[in-house]
Amino acid sequence: MSFKRTHSCGSLKKINVGEEVVLAGWVASRRDHGGLLFVDLRDREGLTQIVFNPEINPKVHELAKDLRSEWVLAVKGKVSDRPQGTVNAKLGTGEIEVKITDFEVLNRSKTPPFMIEDDVDTGEDLRLRYRYLDLRRPALQKNFVLRHKVMQETRNYLSENGFLEIETPYLTKSTPEGARDFLVPARLYPGKFYALPQSPQLFKQLLMVSGFERYFQIVRCFRDEDLRADRQPEFTQIDLEMSFVTPDDVIPMMEGLIARIWEKTKGQKLNIPFPRMSYDDAMGRYGLDAPDTRFGIELQNITDVFRNSEFKVFKDAIAKGGIVKAIKLDQSTAKRDFSRAELDALTEFVKIYGAKGLAWIKVQADGWQSPIVKFFSEQEKKDLSDKLQIQTGDLILFGADKADVVNAALGNLREKLGAMLDIIPKDKLGFVWIVDFPMFAYDETEKRLAAVHHPFTSPRTQDLPLMDTAPEKAKAFAYDLVLNGNEIGGGSIRIHQTELQQRVFDILKISREEAQERFGFLLEALSYGAPPHGGLAFGLDRITMLLTGNDSIRDVIAFPKTQKGTDLLCDAPSTVRPEQMKELGLKVSAPPSSQAAQSAHADPANPVKVP
Ligand code: AMO
Ligand code: AMP
Repeated sequence: MSFKRTHSCGSLKKINVGEEVVLAGWVASRRDHGGLLFVDLRDREGLTQIVFNPEINPKVHELAKDLRSEWVLAVKGKVSDRPQGTVNAKLGTGEIEVKITDFEVLNRSKTPPFMIEDDVDTGEDLRLRYRYLDLRRPALQKNFVLRHKVMQETRNYLSENGFLEIETPYLTKSTPEGARDFLVPARLYPGKFYALPQSPQLFKQLLMVSGFERYFQIVRCFRDEDLRADRQPEFTQIDLEMSFVTPDDVIPMMEGLIARIWEKTKGQKLNIPFPRMSYDDAMGRYGLDAPDTRFGIELQNITDVFRNSEFKVFKDAIAKGGIVKAIKLDQSTAKRDFSRAELDALTEFVKIYGAKGLAWIKVQADGWQSPIVKFFSEQEKKDLSDKLQIQTGDLILFGADKADVVNAALGNLREKLGAMLDIIPKDKLGFVWIVDFPMFAYDETEKRLAAVHHPFTSPRTQDLPLMDTAPEKAKAFAYDLVLNGNEIGGGSIRIHQTELQQRVFDILKISREEAQERFGFLLEALSYGAPPHGGLAFGLDRITMLLTGNDSIRDVIAFPKTQKGTDLLCDAPSTVRPEQMKELGLKVSAPPSSQAAQSAHADPANPVKVP
């Protein structure tokens, strides 16, 4: 490149008019108007309109006729006002154009497989296959500028607060704690494997035992689990740990970090402290442990109304220890009369969450229209009416089943209705800490208690006695930060005494031998003077997704995997050469295709949640 760049394609304004400049970038578009030839030149900072005028330099104009999309140019020219009526107010450089006197083609480009524009209507698979081109789109570039700022501010804030950035291993020991591990065969030890960490959980605890007091890391985590829009097999955490703390030290420190990130990236001042809600409250009112608190239509528990009901669906559910809950939509919220077809569609929706049906009542001026009220007694109707404060125009939707089925069904239905009825205020930020999680939940398939957070989570001090008498009632010193219904972070105070840790393993029915084999190093470390400690990890991808207003974390990860866990750009996973397999002492027993299918639908092997 013989020209020396003087400005970016986003920087030239009216005050630069008259200056000689050199720009470099990609041909975003070209328009040949016979005489004048216009090109939008694009670089990271923006777009500038450049003009090739045969009257300025006929040779240069002639050469410019060959230019095509995505060619790389360096151009020299003079900044001028745009002619009247051609100013583009939407563009930062829309008041000017650069009249080109000379240019250099730095590289040509094949015709790209899709237009490099923000509103491209291109299938995601094609975009991921050519991700390096997709990433040229200004909207995606903005995501990464913001992601960079989030990381930068995180480092600044945590460093100012005495946290040390310390790296922990990626090749480590298999600690199957929730999701499946990604395993790496060890060539030097045939038959043995490293595991990629699902999180640095155990290492950060060891760093506290070592006396580092405050640790953080912006770290990749690997989890082989079913993927969704907000879940990738490798994702990034802002992971941290602190010594000599209670939740009331960790939570404000984290609020400070989140407030700082929002202020520095969006210029938005957040109201901290964020509200805190108990897990029981969240489940009761929203049916979910990551509720979207920006809108109402909360769930109401009406089990008591139907304790002696003749309606078989409710009666049977209650008799089996289940519950009945309802969602009420008033006329002004629903803004319509739900049709039978719509109600059938909502019924199909709740079935995804294991519900057997979705009973409903439409409260109309001439009475209640419903397939179920004929089974209700007068008393039940009255109690229901009082409890839900029923009015004409209301639509009531019911779920009756085991508590977790009802909560999942109605909780997700509530969020679906919120989106469908457009009642979620988009400019509101629904931050909420969910606290007082139970320590354990009963695992039906394993017929034993499983850790709700992870097995290193400490019970609340006041619940310590329950660990011997009724562990299922104990609550944990655990906290999740939720934003607009997304879990953006989670953490806890850890157990720092070997005896209590051992007791938790006993409750989880993890045998002494198994505990020793899997977590022996941690148990041993705890016995050498571990300080009280606790911490948290934020999902950096999810935070960035929410800050940029995207729906998928794939839009804020430079090279993400597809929903099926594949990398379409470099074609991974792929087979390896027979010599490599031999060297590793490995043989594939199933044909590759059926293997892929198996792993794509795999359920976690172990019900204990991932740290
Ligand atoms: P947890 O498992 O809750 O906690 O993870 C912390 C945060 O990481 C994000 N996250 C993910 N993001 C994208 N893709 C995934 N597959 C994925 N899984 C999790 C979420 C989540 O809140 N060691 C503990 C933290 C601690 O106790 O300090 C842990 O990993 O935003
Ligand atoms: P059925 O008695 O199965 O005809 O159901 C009567 C109504 O109750 C229908 O509207 C079903 O969708 C609904 N229903 C069935 N099972 C349940 C359930 N477990 N919870 C809520 N509604 C249900």
